[in-house]
Amino acid sequence: MLLDYFRNFLFREFIDRNVVSLVRKNMEPFRVLLSYYRCAMMAVETKFNVLNEQFSLQYDRNPIESIKTRLKSVESIIKKIQARNLPVSLESVVNHIHDVAGVRIVCSFTDDIYRLADCLLQQDDVKLIRRKDYIQNPKPGGYRSLHLIVEVPIFLEQGRREMRVEVQLRTIAMDFWASVDHKIRYKKDIAESEQAAIAQELAECAALCADMDRRMENLRSRVF
Ligand code: GTP
Ligand code: MG
Repeated sequence: MLLDYFRNFLFREFIDRNVVSLVRKNMEPFRVLLSYYRCAMMAVETKFNVLNEQFSLQYDRNPIESIKTRLKSVESIIKKIQARNLPVSLESVVNHIHDVAGVRIVCSFTDDIYRLADCLLQQDDVKLIRRKDYIQNPKPGGYRSLHLIVEVPIFLEQGRREMRVEVQLRTIAMDFWASVDHKIRYKKDIAESEQAAIAQELAECAALCADMDRRMENLRSRVF
């Protein structure tokens, strides 16, 4: 009896240790890749900080209200890969998941968004992969922002490597709407009878935010 117990214990220990080392061994390249994405995210953040600094000298005001960065969690990356029926591999991440590294730029005025985006894309180490203008063409739900997928180099001991970063540019009003929308959309227990009315209300609020952006821009042009 006791012998059985020890035999099982040792067997379990053996299995557990091997699983852990297997996971560790396989996770290592993944962790390295994530650290490259983190570097690329920092590089893009720095580019925007530099532009903000330069704008503030030129126009005597800061176009950027805030910059937020986020790295997608391993869990969400794997979920996204599986949802797209891709093999769970580093190649799938690099070639198909464009939003592992995310940089969100919040501005006061809509025209600053386009000016900043143009300045970023003019830089010779920035390559545009995809541009989606949800300000000119808002999503049916009301979402507005300018999305850019860019490729930027990071410089490693082994040399240069291009990494993709998702940049979202929005005004304070767009950011306010998107954050409330996000909270509401992830609230799963909204009664079905309420859903259409809530969606309608959110779309109306999005239109109000867009109107506010226009008015604020107008105010600025009257004052400056
Ligand atoms: P993923 O949604 O990331 O798989 O890729 P996609 O290319 O289909 O996305 P898209 O460029 O349309 O949007 C990507 C990101 O924009 C999302 O992860 C959100 O951060 C944001 N976003 C897009 N649509 C909405 C929306 O309706 N509401 C809110 N709150 N955020 C949105
Ligand atoms: Mg995304």
